[in-house]
Amino acid sequence: MLRTDPNIIITGTPGVGKTTHCRELADKTGLHHLDINEVVKKHNIGETSNDPDDPNTKIVDEDRLLDCIENELEEGGQIVDWHACDLFPPSMIDLVCVVRCDNKLLYDRLKQRNYDEKKLQENMDCEIMEVLLEEAREAYEAEMVVELKSETTEDMDGNVRRVEAWIKQWKKDHGKEGEVAAQSEAGKKDEDDPMFLHG
Ligand SMILES: Nc1ncnc2c1ncn2[C@@H]1O[C@H](COP(=O)(O)OP(=O)(O)O)[C@@H](O)[C@H]1O
Ligand SMILES: [Mg+2]
Repeated sequence: MLRTDPNIIITGTPGVGKTTHCRELADKTGLHHLDINEVVKKHNIGETSNDPDDPNTKIVDEDRLLDCIENELEEGGQIVDWHACDLFPPSMIDLVCVVRCDNKLLYDRLKQRNYDEKKLQENMDCEIMEVLLEEAREAYEAEMVVELKSETTEDMDGNVRRVEAWIKQWKKDHGKEGEVAAQSEAGKKDEDDPMFLHG
């Protein structure tokens, strides 16, 4: 079945601004904010880590998670909010946004969440080493992956406008099922795509 609304992943290190972006995007576009933290809680699919230093970390069974959200992804129009991305099948995903932010700012944001030093450091390393960007680039086609800086409100507004424009274009390209969608995929160049014009 062809989707009439795209599925978009908003990923990145904890604290970069995923949820803030997803909420704003859902509000502006009417697409559904699929908060994976909520899915994990609702279906009780997070196992507590055995690491005595890290008793709060939940390990999520990815197969069970995919079973839980398969129908929604098939339907389309999902804005997926999660700090990992390579578990979602590329055939189900249309755009992957990796939200980024300066480390000093990230430190302050995580400190506000009362993260302990170890967890703080792990997340700072994750951001510095571009772990999520790398993961996204390995799992998806380069054209599908975009970095979004999220340090100021202006960044946020700009990002949301960019993704909104991308969604509009995607819907135009995929408006009529079948041959039109296939044609536009085949003929599409990066420069035709609002997401990549200024990236
Ligand atoms: N672009 C931004 N400008 C200002 N504050 C931001 C921005 N992005 C995120 N924040 C703030 O950073 C904190 C973490 O954002 P959140 O969306 O919860 O991150 P995540 O979902 O990635 O863990 C929140 O307090 C949020 O208001
Ligand atoms: Mg969040």
